[in-house]
Amino acid sequence: MASFRSCFGSGWYPYRRCAIAKMSEEINDSRESGFVMVAKVDDLQEGSMLFVAVSGNPILLSRIGGQIYAMDAVCSHYNGFLPRGQIKDYTLVCPVHKAEFDVRTGDVTKNVSAIVRLATRREATRLRTYEVKIVDGSIGLKIR
Ligand code: FES
Repeated sequence: MASFRSCFGSGWYPYRRCAIAKMSEEINDSRESGFVMVAKVDDLQEGSMLFVAVSGNPILLSRIGGQIYAMDAVCSHYNGFLPRGQIKDYTLVCPVHKAEFDVRTGDVTKNVSAIVRLATRREATRLRTYEVKIVDGSIGLKIR
């Protein structure tokens, strides 16, 4: 099981707690082949986010409506670190230029403003999502 440490002080980010998984291990059960166990379900409170790094992939876990979702933790627009953003319902807001993403699908629900798009010559695009499986109270991710 991965071990965790807090990465942000409490109070700055009221919607969630953030932690870093130092390492992860593969689920041994052959039926769960391909899934990497990254955290305990209890480590992720309702409405919160958790940052994990799995095989070099920065991934953001979120728990909304009792479901756990996983998507890229780095913004597709200009590499904003999404765990520093705000999450409300299923929408995650990038802390840098405020693009919004649906944590269920990784889809962009609100792109950067026209002025930001003009200045950066880029816009946000869909983020990768990862299949989640809960096994014995642990969160497993399928990394492609
Ligand atoms: S870096 Fe995320 S919106 Fe610009």
